[in-house]
Amino acid sequence: MASPSIVILTGAGISAESGLGTFRDEGGLWAQHRIEDVATPEGFARNPQLVVDFYNARRRQAAEAVPNAAHEALARLEAEHAGNVTLVTQNVDDLHEKGGSQNVVHMHGALNSALCAACAHRWPAPLKMQVGALCPKCATPTARPDIVWFGEIPYQMERIEQALTRADIFVAIGTSGNVYPAAGFVQLATHVGAHTVEMNLDPGENVSLFAEARAGKASETVPAWVKEVLGS
Ligand code: OAD
Repeated sequence: MASPSIVILTGAGISAESGLGTFRDEGGLWAQHRIEDVATPEGFARNPQLVVDFYNARRRQAAEAVPNAAHEALARLEAEHAGNVTLVTQNVDDLHEKGGSQNVVHMHGALNSALCAACAHRWPAPLKMQVGALCPKCATPTARPDIVWFGEIPYQMERIEQALTRADIFVAIGTSGNVYPAAGFVQLATHVGAHTVEMNLDPGENVSLFAEARAGKASETVPAWVKEVLGS
């Protein structure tokens, strides 16, 4: 295969070594906060201050975090691989961009973006968002974090599905395979004949669907895999 098309899906595990907490590991974010309180539209309607505070804290942590060798290796892959590379992340931090990736699909939204719930305008989020902040476009007090909550539709699904249908290689890194539709990408990739690889510290829920599984820390497994693909 001369220049395979590659689709990469990343999850919280790739940012763990940069000091950002995962969701479902022991002591993870979902052990400390209830999903229905901080990651649903209903939770936001009930207690917007709690939700805005939760994402303000995460935005502050993400702003201080630095990318690790796994983020940097994926940026190198994007720059040096002759075929298509589509990097899809479930992460709302910007460590892929800080690591040098130019083109990242943030399917679950982004901490550094604010969204108007009234007119869908987006703008750069301040480090500390305020409840009821005005939308700079329509002036309605309906600013919210630009995060895809449970019950909402992930972003750019058409683009992701198109990339998956052309994929020769699909790799999932640091994701527990619990949250759909991302957890189902491996099935679509398998269906079109792509080679599928899981890279994780602990095997994900859907590991049996992958052709190959590589266990270990992302900062070690990902640079090694990128070296293999690039041949150097
Ligand atoms: P999880 O917290 O569910 O899973 C993190 C995965 O990373 C686990 O499989 C760990 O074994 C693995 N891991 C931990 N440290 C690692 C390391 N150093 N190297 C490699 N792997 C490591 O996070 P996600 O699968 O990303 O959605 O969660 C998916 C979605 O659920 C998130 O985007 C978020 C959450 O609810 C929303 O908030 C909408």
